[in-house]
Amino acid sequence: MSDEQPLAVQVQGMHFGYDGRTPVFQGLDLAVARGVSYGLLGPNGAGKTTLLRLVAGRLKPSRGSVLVLGHTPHPSLTRDIGLMPQSSAVYPELTARENVDFFARMYGMSRRGERRERVEEVLRFVELEERQNTHVSRLSGGMRQRVSLACALVHRPPLLLLDEPTVGLDPELRASFWEHFRSMAGEGTTLLISSHTMDDAAHCDRLAFLRSGRVVAEGSPETLRRATGRPDASLEDAFLHFARQEAGDVSR
Ligand SMILES: Nc1ncnc2c1ncn2[C@@H]1O[C@H](COP(=O)(O)OP(=O)(O)OP(=O)(O)O)[C@@H](O)[C@H]1O
Ligand SMILES: [Mg+2]
Repeated sequence: MSDEQPLAVQVQGMHFGYDGRTPVFQGLDLAVARGVSYGLLGPNGAGKTTLLRLVAGRLKPSRGSVLVLGHTPHPSLTRDIGLMPQSSAVYPELTARENVDFFARMYGMSRRGERRERVEEVLRFVELEERQNTHVSRLSGGMRQRVSLACALVHRPPLLLLDEPTVGLDPELRASFWEHFRSMAGEGTTLLISSHTMDDAAHCDRLAFLRSGRVVAEGSPETLRRATGRPDASLEDAFLHFARQEAGDVSR
C-alpha cells in the first residue's frame, strides 16, 4: 500500500544554473522516502542550499523535475514544506513568540485558538517558553536558531528542509536538536538536512554525499562506511574515499 504513495522528494535528471553559464546541477537524481531523516553532506559550494531551494520551490530547474509528495512544489509558502534557511529568516525586532505566530499565520493557520495552542506547543518543544517574550535581537545565536526551527515546523509540515541547522550550536544543544529531529521522523515527518559535520551525518537514516553538484555516494551511514572496504572507516573516511574516487584519485 505504502509503495503506491509518492516519495517525499523525487529529483530526476535535474539541471539548474543561477546564470545559465555555470551549471550547479547537470542531471541530478535523488529519491527521499517518507519519514526518514536524510542528510545532504558536502563541502562549501557543493550545491546543498541550492538543492534545498529547488525542493522548496523557490528556484525552478531548467530541465528535469523536482517533485515533493508527487507534486511540483509551489514557489510561495506551502503547508507541505517547512524551510529553515541557512541564514536566519527570523525577525530580530519581533519577540520569539511573535516570530513563530507570524510564520503560523503565513502558513495559513487562521484559527486563532488552534494557532495559539500550536505556537505554545512549539515554543515548549524548542525549550523557549521562558524567553518567548524576548526580542530575537537579544537572544543568543543558539536560541535564535531554536526560534528559526520553531518557525519552520509550526504548521506541522510533512517535509522539513533544514539548511545546516546545527551550525554554531553547543554539543548539548546539538544533541537536543537531534532528539527533536528523531522524534519528528518517528512521527512520520521527512527531514532533509544539509550539513558539513560527520556528527550530524551519523544521526541520519540515509545520506547523499554531494560534490560539485553530483551525488558521489548514497546510502545509510553504515553502508557508506562499509563501502570503503575498511571495517574501521569513519564516515569522514568514507566521504574522503568517495570524493577521491570521484576525482579519479583512488590510489590513496
Ligand atoms: N545567488 C546565487 N547566484 C549565483 N550563484 C550562486 C548563488 N548562490 C549560490 N551560487 C553558486 O552555486 C553553487 C552552489 O552553492 P550552494 O550555496 O548551493 O552551496 P552549499 O553546498 O550550500 O555551500 P555551503 O556549504 O557553503 O553553504 C556555488 O558555486 C555558488 O557559488
Ligand atoms: Mg549552503
